Amino acid sequence: MKGWILYKDNVGFLKPSYAVKRLVEESERLGVSLEIINPNRLELTVTREDRKSILLDGEPVALPDFIIPRMGAFTNYFDLAVIRHLERLGVKSFNSSESVETVKDKLYSQQILAERGLPVPKTMLVKFPVNVDLVEKRLGFPVVVKTLYGSQGSGVFLCESKKQFLNLIELVEATKASAHIILQEFISDSKGRDLRVFTIGGRAIACVERKAAEGEFKANFSQGGKVKPFEITPEIEWLAVETSRIFNLDISGIDLLFDGDHFKVCEANSAPGFQAIEQSMDINMPKEIFHFIRIRLGIFQKTEEELKEKDDDCDENQDARH
Ligand SMILES: Nc1ncnc2c1ncn2[C@@H]1O[C@H](COP(=O)(O)OP(=O)(O)O)[C@@H](O)[C@H]1O
Ligand SMILES: [Mg+2]
Repeated sequence: MKGWILYKDNVGFLKPSYAVKRLVEESERLGVSLEIINPNRLELTVTREDRKSILLDGEPVALPDFIIPRMGAFTNYFDLAVIRHLERLGVKSFNSSESVETVKDKLYSQQILAERGLPVPKTMLVKFPVNVDLVEKRLGFPVVVKTLYGSQGSGVFLCESKKQFLNLIELVEATKASAHIILQEFISDSKGRDLRVFTIGGRAIACVERKAAEGEFKANFSQGGKVKPFEITPEIEWLAVETSRIFNLDISGIDLLFDGDHFKVCEANSAPGFQAIEQSMDINMPKEIFHFIRIRLGIFQKTEEELKEKDDDCDENQDARH
């Protein structure tokens, strides 16, 4: 089984990816031939003939069985075009271009979830000049301010008061009035803590609670949040699985906010990091992912590990006979 990870290690704020390193590390043990490909190395030509219409470093290249895009919120138009092109050539993408594009947009994805009746925080798109009274009436203060395409907590800000909100909006207006910003009801029960649920192939496979550092309100692991395993209740499972199903995500990280005894869906991530989960639970994420991909693609060649287990079984049988 051959795959490509689509990844750029020098984009924006993206920290060097633990997940990419782990996927590569485990792929060798699991009999998967995996290569990290920067989408910028690929060239597309759209023609009627098929398999030669993608070039790697200017040369025709054998297509992989699957791709795993790992650029998350940093996926740009060209990256999406590459994923779409490979999909057209019959390569399965985990996750699909459509899913990656949808969940990247925090407002669009909330609109879809709300339409399907899932609990979400009340959300508004900022329009300049901002109608502060309307914001106060609809969302109240404190209010959460988010950039449309942020990730790892970098574009999320809590405005404690109307005054602070006015100051922030003035600053944004003065620098970039075309900025895409959303405002969100502050779910106070979730201040400084939330849940991250991992789903693979429509199953909730792990859940961790993230707690922000003292005085912080964002619980992201990359912002210094502390992580511990959390029991997957039927409600948590249903919310996470339903969210991933609505967005057609094969692999996802769903953020849930605590809301009284229940939860609200904060966001869905198409390329979730898994350092926090592997460090706090006994789970091998790449193994889970590759196992699912094998089943999904129907490629069941024995892995080195399985072959070894088989050898061990044989040895045991022989021992038993002696
Ligand atoms: N409406 C909200 N109410 C309370 N806390 C929130 C809210 N939205 C986000 N947070 C906190 O901020 C963190 C980052 O927000 P999120 O929308 O997941 O952005 P990112 O894509 O950067 O992770 C969340 O994990 C949560 O701890
Ligand atoms: Mg998040």
